[in-house]
Amino acid sequence: MTDLGFIHRFIPATQPGLPPLLLLHGTGGDENDLIPLAQQLLPHAALLSPRGKVLEQGMPRFFRRLAEGVFDLDDLKLRTAELAAFIAAARKAYDLPTPVAVGFSNGANIAASLLLTQPDLLAGAVLFRAMLPFEPGSLPGLAGKPVLLLSGSSDQMIPAASSKRLAAVLQTAGAKLAYQALPAGHGLTQQDVTIAAQWLQEFTPEKI
Ligand code: MLT
Repeated sequence: MTDLGFIHRFIPATQPGLPPLLLLHGTGGDENDLIPLAQQLLPHAALLSPRGKVLEQGMPRFFRRLAEGVFDLDDLKLRTAELAAFIAAARKAYDLPTPVAVGFSNGANIAASLLLTQPDLLAGAVLFRAMLPFEPGSLPGLAGKPVLLLSGSSDQMIPAASSKRLAAVLQTAGAKLAYQALPAGHGLTQQDVTIAAQWLQEFTPEKI
C-alpha cells in the first residue's frame, strides 16, 4: 500500500487483545523484511510495516546519515515527525490501539528517536541493535514504558558505548527497561528471538 504517507504493509490481527506491532526495518530492508520475525515474536498480532523513505545508494532507510553512525540530525527530526504522522494516520485508518515498535538497527534508531520525542505514540518498544540517535536536550516522559534493548557485544556497527548511553537515557527517563548485551554481532540470533518473544508475550494483554 502506498497511502498514509509511507509505502507499507498492514496485516490485521487474528486474535483480539494483542498490541499491534510497528515494524521498522534496518538499512537496505523494506516493509516485508520483519514480517516473518514478527509472526514468530507475537503470533496473531496486527502488523504495521512501513518502508523507510530515504535511499542510500538505493537502500531504504528511515533517516539520512552522513557516515556510518553519524546522523543527519535535521533529517532525523523531520523523518521522526513524518513517521509519527504515519502512525497516527494508520491507527485511524486501521482502527488500532497504540502500537509496540519492533525495530532493527536503523529502524531501532528511529524507534528510539520516537521514544525520545513523542513517547505517547508507542506503548513500548523492542530495540534490536540500537544506539542513542541524538543526545536529548530534555528527558522525555517514559514513566513505566516497557522497552527491551538487545545489543550484540561484538557488533561492529553499533558502538557499545552508544547503546549503553541509550539504556541510561531511557532508564533515567523512567522507562521499564530490560537491557542485555548478547554474545552476538550486528545480526539477530535465536537468543534475540527467544528473549523478545518472551518479553512480548508477557507484555500482553493487560499492559496495553
Ligand atoms: C544507522 O545508520 O541507523 C545505524 O548505523 C545502523 C544502520 O546502519 O542501519
